[in-house]
Amino acid sequence: MKKLVLLFMTFLSLVSFGKVEKLYVGTNAEFYPFEYLEDGKIVGFDAELIEAIGKKLNKEIIWKNMAFDGLLPALQSKKIDVIIAGMTATPERKKFVNFSDPYFVSNQMIIINTTDEKSKDITSYESLPNHSVGVVLGYTGDVAVSKLENIDVQRFNGASEAIMSLISKKVQAVVIDSEPAKNYVKNNKGLKLISTDIAKEEYSIAVSKENKKLAEDINSAYKELVNDGTFEKLITKYFK
Ligand code: ARG
Repeated sequence: MKKLVLLFMTFLSLVSFGKVEKLYVGTNAEFYPFEYLEDGKIVGFDAELIEAIGKKLNKEIIWKNMAFDGLLPALQSKKIDVIIAGMTATPERKKFVNFSDPYFVSNQMIIINTTDEKSKDITSYESLPNHSVGVVLGYTGDVAVSKLENIDVQRFNGASEAIMSLISKKVQAVVIDSEPAKNYVKNNKGLKLISTDIAKEEYSIAVSKENKKLAEDINSAYKELVNDGTFEKLITKYFK
């Protein structure tokens, strides 16, 4: 009898061990090439990274696509388990959530419209004042531009809206992270990139402060992906 019970218990633990848990991942899929929609599916560098981390941890990824400024509240109210969204690990955000080891270094760039006379004297972050400048609500670019005085900050819900406004000369510059910035300039004639001296930023995966174990698991899975070459392959695919 004892043996039978033991056998049954081993069976039970095997079953629960093999069970794939769900990992609810929040993002805002309007941030090429980190996350964007293709035929209604969330794809991109971050998407592939978290899918690979999920595989290592035996977790199935369930995507929740939402507004960028809704991500941190969703994490805190446990609607999602993690955020991967090209999210910069800022000291301000660290007060509310934990961040994984950084996986990408970025910085802010200015995009100007060379066909707009009023855009032409923008040559640096310091020369933004006395212009209308587009940013995306809640992005680090919004924070950086909002620090300047005598500036008309126009906040948009998404980067493409800000770019459209730049093309139609309603704003004279857009400030956004380097990778999406390069892509908008590549795809829209007349736009030009200006680099800034705003401090570099590190993208990390955000996890609730209460979920220490998940943060550790994500870090070790990430390290494995770096060591086995998967991470480098992703970098090459998206950035080289
Ligand atoms: N790096 C910037 C930030 O953390 C912008 C991130 C935008 N990401 C997105 N998926 N829309 O504020």
